[in-house]
Amino acid sequence: MADRLFIFDTTLRDGEQVPGCQLNTIEKIQVAKALENLGVDVIEAGFPVSSPGDFNSVVEISKAVTWPTICALTRSVENDIKVAAEALQYAKNKRIHTGIGTSPAHIKYKFNSTQDEIVERAVAAVKYAKKFVEDIEFYCEDAGRTDNEYLARVVEAVIKAGATVVNIPDTTGYCLPAEYGEKIKFLMENVKGIHNAILSTHCHNDLGMATANTMAGIINGARQAEVTLNGIGERAGNTALEEVAMILKSHKELSIDTNINTKQIYPVSRMVSSLMNMPVQANKAIVGRNAFAHSSGIHQDGVLKNRESYEIIDPQDVGIDDNTIALTARSGRAALKHRLNILGVELPQEKLDSVYEEFLKLADRKKDINDDDVLMLAGKDRTDSQRIRLEYLQVTSGIGLQPVASVCLNIAGEKFEAASSGNGPVDAAIKAVKQIIHRQMTIQEFLIQAINKGSDDMGKVHMQVEHNGTNYYGFAANTDIIAASVEAYIDAINKLAPATASTSHPAPQ
Ligand code: KIV
Ligand code: ZN
Repeated sequence: MADRLFIFDTTLRDGEQVPGCQLNTIEKIQVAKALENLGVDVIEAGFPVSSPGDFNSVVEISKAVTWPTICALTRSVENDIKVAAEALQYAKNKRIHTGIGTSPAHIKYKFNSTQDEIVERAVAAVKYAKKFVEDIEFYCEDAGRTDNEYLARVVEAVIKAGATVVNIPDTTGYCLPAEYGEKIKFLMENVKGIHNAILSTHCHNDLGMATANTMAGIINGARQAEVTLNGIGERAGNTALEEVAMILKSHKELSIDTNINTKQIYPVSRMVSSLMNMPVQANKAIVGRNAFAHSSGIHQDGVLKNRESYEIIDPQDVGIDDNTIALTARSGRAALKHRLNILGVELPQEKLDSVYEEFLKLADRKKDINDDDVLMLAGKDRTDSQRIRLEYLQVTSGIGLQPVASVCLNIAGEKFEAASSGNGPVDAAIKAVKQIIHRQMTIQEFLIQAINKGSDDMGKVHMQVEHNGTNYYGFAANTDIIAASVEAYIDAINKLAPATASTSHPAPQ
């Protein structure tokens, strides 16, 4: 019989730590329910002591989700653990994930401590957590750069103290696959009591080896993998859920199964990308736009003769269905609702009606409405309630013309107008906005993306704006890319506006 690998999803914790990817509680619940539907075993819902928002999300996800274990992160600190236990009070199945750094760098620089003291703190944290919850996972932070003998000592001690799962993170993404596999093997062979716990992989992708390392860990005995959708996470990200699930589905000879319903992979991937405003790179394995696109003539010919010539995965196995009903201006509410449901979004009738209105407006401007467009429309009311909104934008530009833009902003109900020229239409429009909003804001990053084919596509804009040393992230989509750019800029301004709301709203010049 095949072995079972538990899938621990940390999209809502490690993934959500990515600047600009923060979700509100309602969005987190939406993702958590989609993860439940996808079949993950554990949902890491947050780090409750880190903020009231994280605490509240763990509470609400615990209430909303039925069968996956809900996990809350802590440091090896009593108050963290107490707060995590409180946040988990409504979870049907709960786990506390506590831990401490075990590498020489962490022990010396982070804790100014000794190896012996770290073992003591680790054991004390597990014993304390055990007072609240039975299922305790312990992470040895920076295990990737921790000497195997010492790591085995820590793992043995925490298992003896009651840890049910021990996480071996390659926190910095440094390990080579053979090295990481060897580490897991060493622990499996040298830790007394290892069969009383499960070893877990948690690999970061700094050198592009996260999935390879995770697989090496699994092949050598780890039976839980910590992953995120689309591989999002700190810096270069974490191991991608979809990659591990599809590797195990494709390589039956490994005889290791997961509970993942792979047909849900694509819809959940799209949902996470859309809610987090984090585009998926076109050539991303499994879920990238080009993952199943055969462009060369030889490949197309081969696939048409027999799909298996060049495809190792049937796109339908990951939920990519080419035969879906096209959404156009003639589609009814039922077709839109059906598409939203496939994408894991369920809307109350009233919200569906307003999304449908917006859908019809977009369908007038764009021939085929794709999944990204639909998700965008479903999440649009996130920006409708913003304090600063773009009321109108008019731009004149062209070869041989000086680009000029006029804008009107609605700030908390009052309208302000300005006009400016620039070196291009976006520059002119942003300069006009700056005349109304008196803040020192510098655009650090500006990405315009057309997701699909066709000149009628929506342009999606991601912007990073710096103000007083802090970065704010803005996002917008529009069939007019100049409007999308200005809206993304305003979205970023709205993120900083609440912090300065007490100083009367920006005055017109
Ligand atoms: O990468 C890491 O070490 C982590 C731990 C907190 C589990 O995310
Ligand atoms: Zn991590």
